[in-house]
Amino acid sequence: MKKNKIILFALLVAFVGIQLIPTTRNQHKIVPKTDFMVVNDVPNLIKKKIQTSCYDCHSNNTNYPWYNKIQPVAWFLEDHINEGKKELNFSEWETYSKRRKKGKLKSIINQIKEDKMPLTSYTLIHGDAKLTKKEKLAIIEWISKLKTNLN
Ligand code: HEC
Repeated sequence: MKKNKIILFALLVAFVGIQLIPTTRNQHKIVPKTDFMVVNDVPNLIKKKIQTSCYDCHSNNTNYPWYNKIQPVAWFLEDHINEGKKELNFSEWETYSKRRKKGKLKSIINQIKEDKMPLTSYTLIHGDAKLTKKEKLAIIEWISKLKTNLN
């Protein structure tokens, strides 16, 4: 019993301790002119959904509710942001070549179709990022149209 208490106390100290380690925040004050939502005329509902479900890891602006600031959640998120932005950064959309844009749009459709994005590890905590069947279809349809119009 006593041992358990010591272990519990040590865990508590460690938990409090890791909160003090600084992490970099993925936040910028202005939305750049190259942002996907600035250069495309995106219907409001689709815009909101993509921003809520994808922008935390795929843009230069992550939303940080309290649970995103707590370690180790913040570390996992930071890792995902770095990896996610490498693959696709909505904030820098307009800097992509037409060919790259097309490839990314295709990839977005596939990721949503196959339920790979948003990551399950993320939607477990961020319930509002989950996509309903209807939302998935709406996003896929709109993204497909955008892709066709890029020709
Ligand atoms: C929690 C962070 C996170 C969220 C939220 C997220 N992604 Fe990702 N995404 C990643 C990471 C990390 C990768 C790179 C590694 C991988 O493919 O798993 C990635 C990769 C991708 C890729 C590239 C895949 C490829 O190989 O071509 C696309 C496209 C993508 N995400 C689209 C989306 C879309 C669309 C949403 C929203 C519906 C979304 N992501 C939400 C983290 C995230």
